[in-house]
Amino acid sequence: MIRSGGRIEDRVALTTGAGRGLGLGIARSLAGAGFKVAVTDIDAENADRAASELRSLGVDAFSSRLDVADSTEWKATVAAVEKRWGRLDVLVNNAGISPRGTVESTDEALWDAVMAINVKGAWLGMKTALPLLKIAHGHIINIGSNLSTRPARGMCAYCSSKAALLGLTRQAALDLLDDEVRCMLIAPGWVDTPGEREIQARAGRPDWPRGLRNITDPEQVGDAVVFLVSPAGRRLNGSILYLDSGQHIVDDVKRIYNLNEEF
Ligand SMILES: NC(=O)c1ccc[n+]([C@@H]2O[C@H](COP(=O)([O-])OP(=O)(O)OC[C@H]3O[C@@H](n4cnc5c(N)ncnc54)[C@H](O)[C@@H]3O)[C@@H](O)[C@H]2O)c1
Repeated sequence: MIRSGGRIEDRVALTTGAGRGLGLGIARSLAGAGFKVAVTDIDAENADRAASELRSLGVDAFSSRLDVADSTEWKATVAAVEKRWGRLDVLVNNAGISPRGTVESTDEALWDAVMAINVKGAWLGMKTALPLLKIAHGHIINIGSNLSTRPARGMCAYCSSKAALLGLTRQAALDLLDDEVRCMLIAPGWVDTPGEREIQARAGRPDWPRGLRNITDPEQVGDAVVFLVSPAGRRLNGSILYLDSGQHIVDDVKRIYNLNEEF
């Protein structure tokens, strides 16, 4: 088993939900920084395509179908990473869903699905990957949201799940202090991804994000991941890193995004 430190090109990262969107941006940034990358997604075809793209750029990458809510699939994926590279330095729990619903309109099946993917999935990932992360003195990066620390109208299960993910992040940072495994949460505002475009189109905004400002690119989130796992990020642990142009400290979302309509 190889300990962490030394050359970045020896280091290995696994990202969930990396077949498209924010997870793909994170995989690209980590690959660009020299990491070997395991690209996982419940959508095996997209994961394959993403890993092929990285390989065509000379990156050592492989793909694996992984439903983050399934502990058996986690075990198989982490075993495949260990077999291929013998180590894991960075786990990025990115996979998530954001269906709409108020406290009243959210049904039990929707609540369970959101919690299973957005919260349990991250916990299963860290639990399964821990033996390797401990050896590497590695990092766990959870992708929360600026809605980890504030509510949003009609997003009951989502906001609850992202707040729980922040709690899990802090708990993991504490539990793993002596193992020198650090755990952080990135809290983006709006990121231009296929998933967010689909959500906005369903809400009657087919042109989203045209005309808006301060929209984050998936690769910018990826660059934040690279920072957190670099020596420059060494003093951050159990922290929340907002990437939302300050949305979490203003009471007027429209001011951030130059949005004219009610939201
Ligand atoms: N886009 C935004 O504005 C935004 C803002 C803040 C936080 N986030 C968070 O970023 C993450 C990614 O969002 P996105 O916008 O890229 O969404 P997306 O829908 O574009 O991509 C999500 C990916 O996750 C995969 N996925 C879904 N369920 C899965 C499961 N059970 N197991 C494994 N993979 C699964 C999908 O197949 C897809 O490839 C989510 O956690 C989301 O909450 C997004």
